[in-house]
Amino acid sequence: MDQALVEQPPRRGFCSLVLQVCSIVAGIIVLPIIGILSLPTLLFLFIFKRSVLQAVVQASKYEEFEKAPHYKSPALLARVWATPVGQQYLRGDLEYQQREGYCAIASQRNILKSLPQYPADHLPPATMGAATAKQFAKLLDERSHSRTTSKVVYGDEGFDAFYEAIKLSNDTEYRVTVNFLHATLSGTGSLWLPWNFLFGIVSGHFSVVLGYLEDEDLVAVFDVNSSYGPYLVETRRLYESVAAQDISSNKSRGLIVSKINPPISIV
Ligand SMILES: *[C@@H]1O[C@H](CO)[C@@H](O)[C@H](O)[C@H]1NC(C)=O
Ligand SMILES: *[C@@H]1O[C@H](CO)[C@@H](O)[C@H](O)[C@H]1NC(C)=O
Ligand SMILES: *[C@@H]1O[C@H](CO)[C@@H](O)[C@H](O)[C@H]1NC(C)=O
Repeated sequence: MDQALVEQPPRRGFCSLVLQVCSIVAGIIVLPIIGILSLPTLLFLFIFKRSVLQAVVQASKYEEFEKAPHYKSPALLARVWATPVGQQYLRGDLEYQQREGYCAIASQRNILKSLPQYPADHLPPATMGAATAKQFAKLLDERSHSRTTSKVVYGDEGFDAFYEAIKLSNDTEYRVTVNFLHATLSGTGSLWLPWNFLFGIVSGHFSVVLGYLEDEDLVAVFDVNSSYGPYLVETRRLYESVAAQDISSNKSRGLIVSKINPPISIV
C-alpha cells in the first residue's frame, strides 16, 4: 500500500501530560468564549432555522445508544460479519478515520476496498473529504472509476424510503453509507451548556452500513471513529439521526446507496 496513505497525523509524538495541561488551560479560557459566542448563533438558529435545533433537542432526551444491550453484542455482530457483505468488508480491511473531519474519506476507502478487484493503488489518500451526502455520492463514483453508481436517499423522503435503502445493505450488489448527526445517537450532554448545543449541531458524520438484521430490526454500522467502531442500532433511531437537517446543505442528511458495476479495465 502507498506509504502516504497509512502515514499517521504528525502531532502524535507530543508528551501527553503537556497536552493534557494545555487542554485544561485551553478549556478554562476557550469554553466561556465559545459559550458567549454561541448565544447569538443559537438565537439566530432559533429564529430562522429552528428545524436544525429540533434534532439536537430531541437527541438530548435519549439515553446514549451505547447503553443498549445490543450495542456491541458479539453474537449479533458475528452474524453481521458472517454475511456475504460483511465478508467483503472484512476482506477489504476496514480502517478508521485518522483524525476528526476525515470520516467521509475513511468511509469511501472502506467501500472501495470492499469492491472485488478494486486496485489498492487507486485508493484516494486519506484527507479531508465530502461535506454533504450529495458530494459524497459524486466523489465516490469518481474515485471508484465508475465501479459504483450512487444516489442519495434523503432522510426527509420518509421512513419507508430509508428502510428500503437500508435493506440493500445486505445485498452484495450494493454498498450503503450513512450520513447522520452523531449527537442524536451518542448524546449531547446538557443543553444548558451552549457549546453542547453547538457541538451537537456540527456533529455530522459519515460511516459505513455493514448490514441489516431483519429479525432484530437492527442496523449494523461500522463507525469510522475508532471510539465507536462496529455497532448495532435500532432502525428508527438511525433514521432520526439521518432525518436531522444539515445546516451546510439546508437538507436532511441521507443514505448514500451505491450500486456496484462490474469491473472494467481501469486506466
Ligand atoms: C471520536 O469520537 C470521540 C467521542 O465523540 C471524540 O472525542 C473524538 O475526537 C473522535 N475521534 C476522531 C478521530 O474523530
Ligand atoms: C440481512 O442479513 C441478515 C443476516 O444474514 C438476515 O438476518 C436478514 O434477514 C437479512 N435482511 C434482509 C432484508 O435481507
Ligand atoms: C432551506 O429549506 C427551506 C425548506 O426546507 C426553504 O424554505 C428555504 O428557502 C431554504 N433556504 C435556502 C437558503 O436554500
